[in-house]
Amino acid sequence: MKALPDLDLSGKTVLLRADLNVPAYRGRVTDATRIDRLRPTIDLLRARGARTLILSHFGRPDGEEHPEMSLAFLLPVLEDRWRCPVGFAQSCVGSRARALAETLGPGGVGLLENVRFHKGEEANEAAFAARLAELGDVFVNDAFSAAHRAHASTEGLAHHLPAVPGPLMTAELCALEKALENPRRPAAAIVGGSKVSTKLGVLHNLIRRVDLLVLGGGMANTFLAAKGLGLGSSLAERGAAEQARTVLSAADKRGCEVLLPRDAVCVQQIREGAPATIFPVDEIPDGWAAIDLGPASVQAACQKLGSCRATLWNGPMGVFEIKPFDAGTTALARCVANFTHSGQMISVAGGGDTNAALENAGVVGAFTYLSLAGGAFLEWLEGRTLPGVAALQASSAAA
Ligand code: 3PG
Repeated sequence: MKALPDLDLSGKTVLLRADLNVPAYRGRVTDATRIDRLRPTIDLLRARGARTLILSHFGRPDGEEHPEMSLAFLLPVLEDRWRCPVGFAQSCVGSRARALAETLGPGGVGLLENVRFHKGEEANEAAFAARLAELGDVFVNDAFSAAHRAHASTEGLAHHLPAVPGPLMTAELCALEKALENPRRPAAAIVGGSKVSTKLGVLHNLIRRVDLLVLGGGMANTFLAAKGLGLGSSLAERGAAEQARTVLSAADKRGCEVLLPRDAVCVQQIREGAPATIFPVDEIPDGWAAIDLGPASVQAACQKLGSCRATLWNGPMGVFEIKPFDAGTTALARCVANFTHSGQMISVAGGGDTNAALENAGVVGAFTYLSLAGGAFLEWLEGRTLPGVAALQASSAAA
């Protein structure tokens, strides 16, 4: 794909699709990582003399103007984290957006109001994409985390303007390529989370691509139950037993080893500090529920991972939000972090609760790459084509 550095941007207006759908509580940003990761893109565009108009969604306003989903509250945070003035327009199209564009000098940055205030955005209406396109000369898409949506500002716009990926999008795509599309071998995937049923597509795609699949969390219980284990009162999708067995037999045919927990930290009540006992997985008594990987399981996983050269991680290994039941997830995360640090492995993580679990483990900076994408990361893991990425590829091929 053509990239941002290939373009002459001086005097041009860039429409930058960012993902400013940041975690916030009562009008305050609670995690600015998505904003901070955009700073190099903003710096680059400013240094190249572009006028930058930022497009983003926030929440799911469903085509209506909801003041509580306005992007305006982000302005002081953006100015602080990016160290530059940021203008604002109360609409992403029409005269108010044009007026903002006209106030920007070379290197100027402006934020347009939530694109999802317009029904044309999620419907990917060509007429709405054309109204967005009127505002700029080039479309830079730096929102990998929204690339699984075929919306006007993520997909449609690429049919109206020359379109390139931004540095953040490029970094995400390169990391996923190294971990999944074309990994160093042997390659591993660690998948946790509560449900097998929501990750069947992910599991089937992964067993085609990696040599070792380490399972944890509630989903591992479903596999153990499918093998006939009782598991006490542990959370397991007993109705998904057949699907779990299909994954296991497909993995076997592909030569992908599936590593299930050997032991589990179990409690009678799921609450902070609840008395816990470690049981082998085939000896969990009635009334006890597995809520974390046991030490023998962590050790076995670390030992297997020790011979792997690429690891992809999605989902926690237990109820990491309730201490001390984050211990299994944390120990495994630190093991992957150590292998990464020693240079023997590249490690890529992302999707859903994964970032919070790795942050809790104190290893965020120790993985090779931590994706900020949730749904987009999972769809990529499923092997699906992301419309936002496909549109950039098509635009690049046509140029
Ligand atoms: C995200 O936070 O994962 C993205 O911004 C996508 O948001 P959405 O699920 O509302 O499309």
